[in-house]
Amino acid sequence: MAALEWQAAQFAEKIGIACEFACNHAEVDISTDQAIALFRICQEAMSNIAKYAHASHVEVTLEATSREIVMQVIDNGLGIAPADVLKPNAFGINGMVERAVALSGQCRVQAGKQGGTIVIVTIPLQPAQLDAVTV
Ligand SMILES: Nc1ncnc2c1ncn2[C@@H]1O[C@H](COP(=O)(O)OP(=O)(O)OP(=O)(O)O)[C@@H](O)[C@H]1O
Ligand SMILES: [Mg+2]
Repeated sequence: MAALEWQAAQFAEKIGIACEFACNHAEVDISTDQAIALFRICQEAMSNIAKYAHASHVEVTLEATSREIVMQVIDNGLGIAPADVLKPNAFGINGMVERAVALSGQCRVQAGKQGGTIVIVTIPLQPAQLDAVTV
């Protein structure tokens, strides 16, 4: 959580696009693999926003539900066309999907309902991890 918060602050400072981080739990006990995957996916999503989105605002949210952890990276930029996701020389989105799938999760990159682009990553939590979720 601290790493994502740091990443959001760095993005705002270096790229100059306002970036907020929000989480619905004070603490989520995820594994190192899960944490690295979420951090790297967020990094690639932000790199794409910096390159293509022309956004003025980014929101990173982390939400632990009863079964899974969901991270969303939401920008208010130009949006993304379905064909963009399938570009042959684009490895970033494929990499995000592969990282999520390797942890039995999924990652979708889609146009937002009111414009912009949303990256939604869902990673299932193990029962022991759910016990450790602190509200
Ligand atoms: N947040 C975004 N807003 C607008 N377009 C986006 C966004 N994220 C991705 N795209 C589009 O989706 C395409 C695919 O992204 P992807 O990260 O897979 O590849 P890339 O960034 O072009 O190359 P690479 O990540 O391999 O350096 C991009 O080329 C861009 O057209
Ligand atoms: Mg990319």
